[in-house]
Amino acid sequence: MTTGAAAEILGVALGCALVVGAIGLLVARLIRRRSLRWQLLLVATVAALGAYAGALAIAQLMFLSAHDLTVMTLVSSVSAVVATLVAAVVGRAVSGWSTVLHEQVRGLELGTPPRLDDRGPAELRALSAELADVQQRLESSRQRELWLEESRRELVSWVSHDLRTPLAGLRAMAEALEDGIAADPDRFHRQIRADVDRMAAMVDDLFELSRIHAGVLKLNPTTLALSDLVSEALAGAAPVATAHSIRIGGSVDAGLEVSADPAGLSRVLSNLLMNAIRHTPADGVVEVTGRRRGDAVELSVSDGCGGLRPGELQRVFDLGWQGDQARTRADGSLAQGAGLGLAIVKGIVEAHSGRVQVENVESTRGCRFSVLLPGLT
Ligand SMILES: Nc1ncnc2c1ncn2[C@@H]1O[C@H](COP(=O)(O)OP(=O)(O)OP(=O)(O)O)[C@@H](O)[C@H]1O
Ligand SMILES: [Mg+2]
Repeated sequence: MTTGAAAEILGVALGCALVVGAIGLLVARLIRRRSLRWQLLLVATVAALGAYAGALAIAQLMFLSAHDLTVMTLVSSVSAVVATLVAAVVGRAVSGWSTVLHEQVRGLELGTPPRLDDRGPAELRALSAELADVQQRLESSRQRELWLEESRRELVSWVSHDLRTPLAGLRAMAEALEDGIAADPDRFHRQIRADVDRMAAMVDDLFELSRIHAGVLKLNPTTLALSDLVSEALAGAAPVATAHSIRIGGSVDAGLEVSADPAGLSRVLSNLLMNAIRHTPADGVVEVTGRRRGDAVELSVSDGCGGLRPGELQRVFDLGWQGDQARTRADGSLAQGAGLGLAIVKGIVEAHSGRVQVENVESTRGCRFSVLLPGLT
């Protein structure tokens, strides 16, 4: 065959294939919303029709014999049938894989356990893996939401318990004073005052927490010398420590500074110190330390509480959670707090882009609360 004839065949075949391809594109546009199976069938059909059309045109041009044309048509037909069958089989498989993905997406809504499909083409497998990942994250946030709802419910019942008990006491004392049957009115007045102060502090804490959770906590960060802050907190806690026969002390790396809201950080430190003093037995030691930790600043309070159990280590920062002894009081008087202190600490620290954690310290038979704050840049 001459080069010219070959070029002519190529040109004619290309022309026919382009025409059939253009019609195929048009049909593809019309069936674009149909199943992938139809699209695959279309590809196979376009390929077969392109070959047919090319063969026919060339036959006309080159005046092929009827016999040759029949042979070409038969060969093209067989390959067209096979191509269509292959397209149908692949289309069926693709549609099966997409059904699995569909079920996975439905699983997201129903919360069924993630199911990874490792068959199918790379793109669908990647999509399936992504879906399984999303499903897992969704499940853990669903669990967290349930748990938050539960802790909110617990908080309401705990706080109402913590307010109802002292209110009943206050009413009894007020009635006794009113009826003039109080044996020691001065003691009653002092008790009423102390209970009212504690209840007011509890309401303040609740208000602070609602501001933290609403994200409207106003911080005025300034550069603070950590040693000053620690000295002030130690001086503030000293009377309570002395009353409990507890030694308190601290050390801070020289020149250590942090950018934080002074009132917020003092609150963090005093909450941690008060807890430490409350949970350390008489003659124990409570220590505050300020250290550089790489780019960050670590402020920690260690005590001699005897260690926290694993379940307690996980829950101490939960809103309203209190250890067994902290909540119940045998005499029915106002419990020491409402389990809000550490939730406030966490909220304030996180508002400073820091984090707070607790760990047991074997050597001192106690625990250590550490606050990690970003260092000055
Ligand atoms: N230093 C500590 N040592 C041992 N247990 C602690 C310590 N600090 C806190 N806890 C436990 O964590 C619980 C929650 O502490 P949190 O400060 O949030 O509440 P609270 O001290 O009981 O009440 P509030 O702080 O509202 O007055 C406490 O009831 C106690 O069981
Ligand atoms: Mg507390």
